[in-house]
Amino acid sequence: MYPELKKEIETYEKRTPKSKEAHTRASSRVPLGVASNYRYYPPYPLFVRDGKGGRIRDIDGNEYIDHNLCYGGLVAGHCHPMVMRAVEERLKIGTLFGMPHGMELELADEICARFPVEMVRFGNSGSEVTQYALKLARAVTGRAKIVKMEGGYHGGHDAVSVSVKPKADQFGDPENPTPVVSGQGVLKGTSGETLVAPFNNLAAVERLFAKYPGEIAAVIVEPIMMNIGFCMPDEGYLQALCELCRRNGAMFIMDEVKTGGKLAWGGACEYFNVKPDIITLGKSIGGGFSLAAFAASREIMGVIAQQKMFHAGTYNTNPVVMAAGLATFKHVLTRDSFAYLNKLNTKLVDGYRDTIRKTGLVAYADGAGANGALMFYPKRVRNHRDWYQIDVDVWTHYWFAMVNRGVIAQPYWWDEQWTLSVQHTEKDIDEHLEVFAGIAPALAAAQQERMAVGAHHS
Ligand SMILES: Cc1ncc(COP(=O)(O)O)c(C=O)c1O
Repeated sequence: MYPELKKEIETYEKRTPKSKEAHTRASSRVPLGVASNYRYYPPYPLFVRDGKGGRIRDIDGNEYIDHNLCYGGLVAGHCHPMVMRAVEERLKIGTLFGMPHGMELELADEICARFPVEMVRFGNSGSEVTQYALKLARAVTGRAKIVKMEGGYHGGHDAVSVSVKPKADQFGDPENPTPVVSGQGVLKGTSGETLVAPFNNLAAVERLFAKYPGEIAAVIVEPIMMNIGFCMPDEGYLQALCELCRRNGAMFIMDEVKTGGKLAWGGACEYFNVKPDIITLGKSIGGGFSLAAFAASREIMGVIAQQKMFHAGTYNTNPVVMAAGLATFKHVLTRDSFAYLNKLNTKLVDGYRDTIRKTGLVAYADGAGANGALMFYPKRVRNHRDWYQIDVDVWTHYWFAMVNRGVIAQPYWWDEQWTLSVQHTEKDIDEHLEVFAGIAPALAAAQQERMAVGAHHS
């Protein structure tokens, strides 16, 4: 760890003693002291007291502009008034029935109006709906294998716990990556059916179809890879991938858990003009509540309607979450909101680019819809192997330096990206950019020194 980075972490510790104490105590009962492995980072994560609009406060009372926004789950921002009102109304008349109530149809109508799908089933998390989407593809095709992208994340279940963050000594041929199971406890029988391809590489998927004719049920892809920072698809890549699936009788699943409520009014389907067979939605569609969905054509969803495939869940479409979802679709995820988010995001990306140019940082900024990231890489990242080369220490320096000055620029970990909310303002963006401009010279100096001695990964 180089001195400037060490200094920022020391400052973090000085500013956040209550988080440190809370984390030490929590760790005695909760593994890593957190409820999701992603939430832990050294030396310890911030513990939150409250949030409103585009800002949160930690338990030491420090205020931050929040671009973590629950890993992209809150394009509505904290406590959006229309979402809060809808939820408060529902709280008075019953929160859980396990019986239909009519809001299923209302929300399914909203989704079918925006996405190229005809029927919807709801769930509670992204992991849940990607699991069901894969089951659906297997049920429809009668095939077992699936293809996912190296570095792609679709949740914590076994089928997709493959090559999520493979290391250099594991990942093999760049044209034909070795599937690497992520961690222990993953069932071989399930993960063993998962094949891996590099993102933005059509030929690699073509080779898999040729190698396993009639065996591949689905290709699942994040339309913009947002678990390796921010990685755009090449022009025409998604359409070509979709076509390739059609030609080979496989389902094309676009995992819109991150993009669905943040990229555009009609998600990545609209933004890239693609018509996948199955989509999954989650995160920001719930306006701060745990809502997710998978959707497809009437024909594909027919296997559920005809009771050939089982899908269930006690908490599915509970009225509180559905009220939040409906309010989010009607009042937050509007065309006007997306125009506003685009405006803010362009300002943020342009501002980053300006500072990068002025300071000589070897990095670039990219963004679309409500998301974007500062990528410490000399050129546009096209896949996991590019992203893997990012200098983690310089990124860590960036993150702590921003936090120490009141900006959570994105969730911790360099595989994440910023999210803007409809409650952020131009002033928030100005402040964010000012803080970045203030720390960028130190980042550039540290980077130059590290490049001179050939330092890279820590
Ligand atoms: C693309 C994608 N799919 C699925 C998931 C899993 O969603 P959840 O954390 O709600 O289970 C995530 C979570 O980050 C994601 O980014």
